[in-house]
Amino acid sequence: MSFCAVYTLVAMSCFIHGCCSSCPVLECWFLPENTRGGFAAAMKQERSLLHIRTDAHRPHREPLEQASSDIHPENVYLITDLSGSLCHPSLHPPRGSLRKPQCEINPFQPHPSTVRWAASLTDSALSPIHLGATWLSSAVRGLDTKLVLSSVMRAPTGTKEPNVVLSVSTKTISVQSRLREPVVLDCQFWVDSLWPLSDSGFAVEWRYQFRGSGRLVLAYDGKSDRLADAGEEGATMDFQSLHEKGNASLILQEAQVRHSGMYICTVYLPYLQAQVAVELEIVEPPSLSIYPSPLPLTVPGQVITVQCEASGYAPLSLELSWEFRGADGNARSLGSGGVTGHRQAGDGTYSQSTRLELDPTNLGGGGELSCIAAHPGGSRRAGVTFNLMGFSAPSMEDSMAMVGVALLLYGFLKLAFWNCTSSGSDGVKQQKKEK
Ligand SMILES: *[C@@H]1O[C@H](CO)[C@@H](O)[C@H](O)[C@H]1NC(C)=O
Ligand SMILES: *[C@@H]1O[C@H](CO)[C@@H](O)[C@H](O)[C@H]1NC(C)=O
Repeated sequence: MSFCAVYTLVAMSCFIHGCCSSCPVLECWFLPENTRGGFAAAMKQERSLLHIRTDAHRPHREPLEQASSDIHPENVYLITDLSGSLCHPSLHPPRGSLRKPQCEINPFQPHPSTVRWAASLTDSALSPIHLGATWLSSAVRGLDTKLVLSSVMRAPTGTKEPNVVLSVSTKTISVQSRLREPVVLDCQFWVDSLWPLSDSGFAVEWRYQFRGSGRLVLAYDGKSDRLADAGEEGATMDFQSLHEKGNASLILQEAQVRHSGMYICTVYLPYLQAQVAVELEIVEPPSLSIYPSPLPLTVPGQVITVQCEASGYAPLSLELSWEFRGADGNARSLGSGGVTGHRQAGDGTYSQSTRLELDPTNLGGGGELSCIAAHPGGSRRAGVTFNLMGFSAPSMEDSMAMVGVALLLYGFLKLAFWNCTSSGSDGVKQQKKEK
C-alpha cells in the first residue's frame, strides 16, 4: 500500500470519527464552589485546562506543553464527551485569536429534584450507587454567541477523567421577534446512553425571568408524559422531537410584548440537572400618522399646527423628528417638535406624538413635510405635501382641475342665460296678450 493510500485511509477514519475524535484544548476557570453571583467574584478562581475527546476508545492527545506551564496539573481534565458538543467550532477559535470562549467549571452535587414535574424521576428509590464519584458541571459560552452549553460530568473518584453524562445547549442565545409572530427558543439536550439511569426518564422546564420576578412558562414530566397546569397559554414544545431527539425548544405561538425577557430551559434527569438561558426581545417598529392630512392651504403669515403620532411600537426607545423638503429638493431638519409623554396600550405597545408649529413663510414656499421615527425595529417616515397660496406654481393636476371647473362654469352660465332669456321673452309675450 502506498503512503498516499494509507494517508487517505487515516484521513477518512478521522472524518468518520468526527474531527479525529479530539479537539483543541479549552481553557476554563475552575470555581471551587458553585455559588453564582454573591461571593463568587471574591472566591479563588483557578485556571484549568479541558482536554476533550469524543471517542472513549481513543487516547487523549498529548497534553500541550505550551499552555500547561502555568497551570497546576491538578487543574487539567481529560474529558470524554460522546455528544461532541464540547468540540463545537464556536468554542474553538482559530489559534492565536484574542477572543476566547467563556468557560467555567464547578463541583456539582447530585440531588433529587424538588420540583413537582421532576419528582417522579427519583421516586423509585433506586440505589444511586453510580452517584458515588466526583461530579462537575461546566458552562461554556461560545464566540459570537452562537452556542451556550451546560454539561454535567462524572469522574471516577480520584481521577481527573470525567465523562459528560448530560448536556444542555442552545444556539439562540438572543432572539428578536416581531409582534404576533411565532417564536422558537432553541434548547437541546443529550444524555449519555451508557449512563445507567439514562432511560429512567427526564423532565423539562421553561421559566421566564424579568427584573427579578419569574413565572413558569412550561413544565413537562417526560416520564409520565404530563404537562404542568401552571403553564402559559400559547407555549408548547414539539413532543415527538423532544422524545426522539432531545429537542426541548420552546414554541410561543404568538409573540407579545410581555414575552420580552429571559427564558431558562432546565433539563432534569434523576439526581442531575443542567440549564441554559435564552434572551427574547420583541421589537416592533411604530406606525406613523400625520394630521391634519392633507394640510390646509395656508396664506403667508398663517401658522399651522401639524401633529404626528407614532403608535404600536416596542421597546420604548423612540426618536421623533421633522424634516422639510422644499421645491428646490433640499431637505432641512425642523427638530423634534413638542414631544408628548408616551402611553402604553393594552397589548403593551407604546405610542407617542409630536406637534410642530409650522410657519410656512419661513420655509420659502410649499414642499413636503415628513415626520421621521427612529426605532430599534427600523426607521419609519410619513409625509404630507403642503402648499402656500401665492407661492407655488399650480401643478399639472391643479391646471387640469381648473380647466374642468372653467368648462363647467361656462356651461352652467350659458344654460342659465338661455333659461333667463327664454323665460324673459315668454314674459314679454304674456304682457302683450294682456294688453
Ligand atoms: C426543534 O424543534 C423546533 C420546534 O418544532 C424546530 O423549529 C427546530 O427546527 C427543532 N430543532 C432541531 C435541531 O431539530
Ligand atoms: C330652466 O328653467 C326651467 C323651467 O323654466 C327650470 O326647471 C330649470 O331648473 C332652469 N334651469 C336652470 C339651469 O336654471
